[in-house]
Amino acid sequence: MASQKSGKFFVGSIVTFLIVFGVVKIILSNMQDVAKHVVAPESMAAEDVAERIKPVAEVYIGEAPVVAAAPVVEETVGGGAQIVTQVCAVCHATGMMSSPKLGDADGWAPRIEKGVDVLYESAINGLNMMPARGGRPDLSDDDVKAAVDHMIALTK
Ligand code: HEC
Repeated sequence: MASQKSGKFFVGSIVTFLIVFGVVKIILSNMQDVAKHVVAPESMAAEDVAERIKPVAEVYIGEAPVVAAAPVVEETVGGGAQIVTQVCAVCHATGMMSSPKLGDADGWAPRIEKGVDVLYESAINGLNMMPARGGRPDLSDDDVKAAVDHMIALTK
């Protein structure tokens, strides 16, 4: 009886050993697989990081990006209407930040009362939320004045 029991115990420990051995083997081979799939970390060089985190799209509120709109101005020297459309309309088309709205005679009346020279002055140098030259320092005084003239004309 006693030898039968220890015989069972012996077989039992071999089975247990084989199971443990099998499990360890599976775990090790899985770890090797994982190791194979580990890739080198991406470069942390500043320009690489900037490339990876750059925004999907860029939205400009207020000042228009000088680069994007620059070529337009070349063609528009003297073209008040086009400057208004390209530069000033960003705010004035919708009356953003309480700017006088394009074509809104009532909104413009108290401005026009101040005299056109005052309006030129405000447009060139800025006034509160109104940026100097509509945020486009590359516009000449004459460009800005032409744009103001056009804005005034739109109210008539
Ligand atoms: C970033 C928005 C913005 C842009 C772009 C912008 N304006 Fe304005 N503008 C304003 C706001 C806001 C006011 C009202 C300022 C106030 O009275 O406080 C204003 C007011 C004015 C006035 C009235 C000034 C006065 O003395 O009452 C004129 C004229 C004017 N803008 C011309 C222009 C012209 C010309 C351009 C384009 C070259 C332009 N604006 C572009 C926001 C803008």
